[in-house]
Amino acid sequence: MGNEGKGVLFGVDYYPEQWDRSLWESDARRMREMGIKAARLMEFAWVLLEPREGKYDFSLFDEAIDVLAAQGIGIVLGTPTATFPYWLYEKDPAMVQVNPNRMSRDFGARREGCYNAAIYRKAAGRIVKKIAKHYGKDSRVIGWQIDNEIGHEGSDRCVCDNCARQWGGWLRKKYATIDALNRAWGTVFWGTTYSKFDQVPVPRDQVATIQNPSLYLDYYRFCSDSATAFTGEQVRILRKHIAKDQWITTNLYPAPHAPVIDMEEMLRPMDIPAYDNYPVWGDQDEPLPYFFISYALSYIRGLKDTGTFAILEQFSGFQGHVCLGYLPPEKQAVLWTDQAIARGADKIFYFRWRTAAFAQEQLCYGILDSDNSDTSRYASLRDNIREKGATYARFADTPFESQACLVYDKDNSRLIRDQYLSKGLYLSPEPYMQVGYDLECARQFAPTVLFNVNTDVKSAQGVDLSRYKLILLPLYQMASPVFVKKLEEWVRQGGHLVLGFRAGARDEKNHAVSTELPGLFAEMAGITIKRFESLNETKVKIRVGMIPAHGEVWADQIIPGTARPIARYTDRKKHYRGMPCATVNEFGKGKVYYFGTTPGPLATILLYRKVFKAAGLRPKFYGMGIEAVRRTTTDGKKLEVILNHTARTRWAGLSRLRPYSMISREIRQAR
Ligand code: GAL
Repeated sequence: MGNEGKGVLFGVDYYPEQWDRSLWESDARRMREMGIKAARLMEFAWVLLEPREGKYDFSLFDEAIDVLAAQGIGIVLGTPTATFPYWLYEKDPAMVQVNPNRMSRDFGARREGCYNAAIYRKAAGRIVKKIAKHYGKDSRVIGWQIDNEIGHEGSDRCVCDNCARQWGGWLRKKYATIDALNRAWGTVFWGTTYSKFDQVPVPRDQVATIQNPSLYLDYYRFCSDSATAFTGEQVRILRKHIAKDQWITTNLYPAPHAPVIDMEEMLRPMDIPAYDNYPVWGDQDEPLPYFFISYALSYIRGLKDTGTFAILEQFSGFQGHVCLGYLPPEKQAVLWTDQAIARGADKIFYFRWRTAAFAQEQLCYGILDSDNSDTSRYASLRDNIREKGATYARFADTPFESQACLVYDKDNSRLIRDQYLSKGLYLSPEPYMQVGYDLECARQFAPTVLFNVNTDVKSAQGVDLSRYKLILLPLYQMASPVFVKKLEEWVRQGGHLVLGFRAGARDEKNHAVSTELPGLFAEMAGITIKRFESLNETKVKIRVGMIPAHGEVWADQIIPGTARPIARYTDRKKHYRGMPCATVNEFGKGKVYYFGTTPGPLATILLYRKVFKAAGLRPKFYGMGIEAVRRTTTDGKKLEVILNHTARTRWAGLSRLRPYSMISREIRQAR
């Protein structure tokens, strides 16, 4: 499902329905002249395709596809289920989602449909089948995108009556008896013992405090299953009717763990992972830190074992729905393309071809503006494709390779959403998001970018430990004995493991473990922890070796057994001054590190440099703002691809990097 060894496939997101037909031909020509070889269409076009129930009209897209294909542009079709027609809504207005904050969605603001509303599900299945039958054998169609950003903008969680009805059944299937649920959740507390499954509420936001954390956890799993069943149905329909060489995906979005949906599970029946890459969006005053973008890209790549992925919406002009912010220089926007390709993207679709003149996305600037004149964005993206196409082609089709991996766990990310432990694990860029888990993962991923160590991001369920020398495992509170056993075996054989605070604090039922912390990891880590403090937004002074630094978020007071301290608290204000905050334990042929606090920037550099060296990963530091990855070329050579994320000229060894630029150079061997 690559691009047949041809390097990166460049595409655009195109909305022919928003423009006069007289523009289509020049659009297609200008796309071709720019190096664009594919266009994504149709993902919000349900009412155009089915203007009245059961009455279909494909003429607009038939014609648009003819025009595009005449210029050699391949087609990716979005199934249009993220926006449904009014005639459907009218049949049952109760098919819209209700957010846990009790706000119900109105027709017109997209992603309104509840995945458990039978009428929506049925109608969605019908339109997908119609489209699949119409275009499934059309050789101009190369791929399919299911829905659009499924679960985004808070559409991952719904507490409507449809969901409430399904929820009881889901619980019954899981627990069989209500006593089993009561025991598992500990409902003896606060008088919440249930006698029937349908008494269990869908968890809405409360005036104060929270519902039982185990109730949230199961409800998030239920939401995930609902969304996955919805997309799964579409995959089944598509597979029945489309040609074998047409790929299927769905476009995911930042931040990785903002939605409660298990995206690895959702993507299982699909062919490739895909992402919408907006390093800056809406009112942001500055772009996301470059290491965060790399973390998100690596997460997407890790959702399948293809080693590559697609970007179905890549930033071209700046974006927002109600407010705009930072305007990147064009070189920086080009660099974000380089970064995505360096991290494994082999398909880049720019969002969007032209800025809309009207409606909700008037502030989403495209490659062209609504006046249709040439823009410097068009010129810079075109020149980039021309200048770097051959360089990209050297490595874009070969899988990204890493010897280090950050491991996340979906259930553990769900736990942090409501019971976030420390304000240092609370970040809510939008009211419907709580991305504290991502924040901590990104903090631990950052040193891999800083020290230019190729690193994957994989789930605890999906990771093949034997591929790696180093595993980073932040916030693994709820520990699976099976996975811990695997880790133990892998460390004994020589693996190096970095555990974060709270590792092993809960069992798989989300109960606190009945042994000393870090629970199942105690022997491997060679430590015990009896007390800890949540630092919230404060910092604690520590020293790494003799160098003063600081810790953030959390402070475990570590009692070493067989482990050796590598950093200690030094803060005069803390009664636990002098105790270790980070340790390392030799275990079998490997090592287990335990970080009881989130290292601040300097501590991160000091600690991780040692970790990478000891694991044989040869860290290389070119300075802040310089990112390097190693890729293998199609003819087996090793390349170092280096990106300068800063506005200044920089050096990486003997190579000079202009502001916001990329270079690649051959190296003797991959590290
Ligand atoms: C994405 C979405 C697009 C468009 C874009 C605007 O989240 O998939 O449809 O809304 O943002 O920047």
